[in-house]
Amino acid sequence: MNIKGKTVILRPATPDDRRAVFEWAALSDVTSAMMGPPTFPDNPAPSWEEFCEDHKAHFFDGSAPELGRCYIILVEGEPVGQVYYNDIEEREGVRRTEMDLWMRAQRYTGRGYGSDALLTLCEHLAQTMNVRQFMVQPSARNPRAIHAYEKIGFVRLPLSTAEASALWGPNDYADSVYMVKTIE
Ligand SMILES: CC(C)(COP(=O)(O)OP(=O)(O)OC[C@H]1O[C@@H](n2cnc3c(N)ncnc32)[C@H](O)[C@@H]1OP(=O)(O)O)[C@@H](O)C(=O)NCCC(=O)NCCS
Repeated sequence: MNIKGKTVILRPATPDDRRAVFEWAALSDVTSAMMGPPTFPDNPAPSWEEFCEDHKAHFFDGSAPELGRCYIILVEGEPVGQVYYNDIEEREGVRRTEMDLWMRAQRYTGRGYGSDALLTLCEHLAQTMNVRQFMVQPSARNPRAIHAYEKIGFVRLPLSTAEASALWGPNDYADSVYMVKTIE
């Protein structure tokens, strides 16, 4: 079932979308904003095999909604990016998950689509799956992502990376900025 945001529509991804989602991440003009040289020599872009290992089939076939699901972000019917949530876990009675997103190309950034998509998926998960806390972890070298997430109520955890990873799980970047949004 599609999910309606302010401007975007989220369409559950299918196995046919998996290759495109990989190419948007690893082989597009937004790749260098989150991985690979010159800014992220410490986080090289994954190969297709590595991507599939990290983004397993259930993200694309809906077979395990508690373990994560990917959505294609549509604007006027056109795919402009992807957003996903990871496994849902319960900690001290609160259901929570980690999320990640990227646009398919630079020309689709800065138009409000990413923040709309992320907020829309958070609200959907709160309403339908009782998820109450949402975490993203951009690199400190990605100020655009940090700003986009702050706009929709994500707050930086005032913790060291070691403390934040003990609370929320391993960091993707050496300088990951753990940001959390709560929906009561
Ligand atoms: C990060 C990303 C998903 C955000 O989605 P988006 O649709 O571009 O986000 P929005 O348009 O809602 O917001 C971007 C904001 O950052 C601002 N911005 C742009 N460049 C910036 C910079 N260098 N520093 C700070 N803010 C910046 C924009 O002005 C905009 O803010 P505004 O609405 O107050 O003007 C998208 O930019 C993207 O795919 N980037 C490349 C991949 C990536 O970094 N993914 C995130 C991995 S954690």
